[in-house]
Amino acid sequence: MLAGLIQLSLLLIHLPFPQSHPATSVPPPQAPLVVSVADYGAAGDGVRYDTVPIQAAIDSCPSSPSRPCHVTFPPGSYLTATVHLRSHITLIVRKGATILGGTEERDYPAERDRWYVILAEGATDVGITGGGVIDGQGLRFIERFDKRKNVMVSWNKTGSCLGDECRPRLVGFVGCKNVRVWDVELRLPAYWCLNIVSCQNTRIHGVSICGDFNSPNNDGIDIVDSNDTIITRCKIDTGDDAICAKTETAPLHDLTVSDCWIRTKSSAIKIGSQSWFDFKGLRFNNLSIVDSHRGLALQIRDGGNANDVTFSNINIKTRYYDPSWWGRAEPIYMTSCLRHPKSKHGSISNVHFVNISATSENGVFLSGSKGGLLSDLRFNNVNVTYRRWTEYQEGLVDYRPGCQGLVNHSMAGFIMEHIKGLEIENVNMRWSDDNSLPLKNPLDFRPSTVNDISLRNFRSGWSAQ
Ligand SMILES: *[C@@H]1O[C@H](CO)[C@@H](O)[C@H](O)[C@H]1NC(C)=O
Ligand SMILES: *[C@@H]1O[C@H](CO)[C@@H](O)[C@H](O)[C@H]1NC(C)=O
Ligand SMILES: *[C@@H]1O[C@H](CO)[C@@H](O)[C@H](O)[C@H]1NC(C)=O
Ligand SMILES: *[C@@H]1O[C@H](CO)[C@@H](O)[C@H](O)[C@H]1NC(C)=O
Ligand SMILES: *[C@@H]1O[C@H](CO)[C@@H](O)[C@H](O)[C@H]1NC(C)=O
Ligand SMILES: *[C@@H]1O[C@H](CO)[C@@H](O)[C@H](O)[C@H]1NC(C)=O
Repeated sequence: MLAGLIQLSLLLIHLPFPQSHPATSVPPPQAPLVVSVADYGAAGDGVRYDTVPIQAAIDSCPSSPSRPCHVTFPPGSYLTATVHLRSHITLIVRKGATILGGTEERDYPAERDRWYVILAEGATDVGITGGGVIDGQGLRFIERFDKRKNVMVSWNKTGSCLGDECRPRLVGFVGCKNVRVWDVELRLPAYWCLNIVSCQNTRIHGVSICGDFNSPNNDGIDIVDSNDTIITRCKIDTGDDAICAKTETAPLHDLTVSDCWIRTKSSAIKIGSQSWFDFKGLRFNNLSIVDSHRGLALQIRDGGNANDVTFSNINIKTRYYDPSWWGRAEPIYMTSCLRHPKSKHGSISNVHFVNISATSENGVFLSGSKGGLLSDLRFNNVNVTYRRWTEYQEGLVDYRPGCQGLVNHSMAGFIMEHIKGLEIENVNMRWSDDNSLPLKNPLDFRPSTVNDISLRNFRSGWSAQ
């Protein structure tokens, strides 16, 4: 117990909540108040609902900046409906403890936007840690198992949600400030897993996310309309996009992702496709992306611009899975085109790829459009080995969502269209000589759409060379 507390305090030093005032003007915060859900009668048997005791423990906290509160979950299994997290509270889900999300529609609030197992709205200094697990019981939402793509339950009977994506998310921070999520496992979300919406100053560290590989929409971390977000040392293994930045009501600035391991049947890193406002200042460093359907992706569709983006020190392995998922094994994919004919044009500018090494079944796809150019793209120290090891059909270019959909086009090392400013330096393409992939066109420029090109030390050849 003592060791656990010492370890926890070390972690808290590691990821402190910022002090809102200089230390001289206010007394330092007192040691956190510790409240256990067990003291409020939580059964922890995984059968009885513990919603009321969990919420009572949270609501017993003073919610004062000078008295932070830790709500602890001792080992056990806590079945719950939506839990509302509040300011100055950290949930400590201890090793051996699992919070289990309810699987009934009545377990969630009436408004679809608030369908989360754990939800913090408008809170300051709020977090989750402790070494335990939060489990969305996603397998219980599978209507029909299918190795290509599962068919999921959708709560669309009452009309409060329409379509085939009506399932609860796992953990959400909406309109929050100073969010800390660290050292916790998020397991089997029924829908999106960790959702950061309109937040400021978020740190996500050492979080392990494990979703079902064949279930759609179980994104790992979605960052929407939020500023100053840092994600480090995460491990994400899931069916849908692993880390996805979107803009719906406001711009998104300053997102850093580093030291993460990712496997997904969709995009490992995705900017878009919801892109109504601008994205600016995005940094991705030291990532390991394995057996994914798509590696690094920008999908601008709704009029926003993505500017000042760097990808560095990244290893990528991409392969085909199934056309029912977006992605065609591209290690790098950048598109700016119209979702609907009436959408506004967005653009992508100032994107830098440095120290990238990829082994992929398909090439790099860089596709602007007439009204939405890609500009100032730089590739420095990039190695791509092209090899085929699955039986899926190649030769389709994937513009989805919207735009031209799937289009027949023979594979190439880089396919490029509607670009202004392209620098390729120390780029090395190697084509497998094991007969899995015949040598293709290394560079495929759509005629008369790519301007200001610089090639320095570019090579393409058989991989044995
Ligand atoms: C409800 O969800 C099912 C299953 O995904 C889907 O087939 C159906 O079209 C949806 N119905 C409505 C009204 O959204
Ligand atoms: C993020 O920064 C942008 C640009 O300064 C601002 O418009 C937006 O309101 C900020 N969002 C949040 C959630 O603070
Ligand atoms: C890169 O990230 C991995 C975790 O995925 C970590 O083990 C390694 O130390 C990081 N490398 C550097 C140079 O920080
Ligand atoms: C690319 O390959 C060359 C030659 O094998 C190697 O020296 C270089 O470090 C590699 N670069 C990256 C980013 O992997
Ligand atoms: C790229 O790799 C080289 C050689 O390992 C290293 O010196 C350089 O700092 C790296 N660049 C970036 C932006 O990380
Ligand atoms: C691609 O070409 C094949 C054979 O020529 C054809 O059957 C298929 O419909 C085409 N696909 C698309 C998306 O155009």
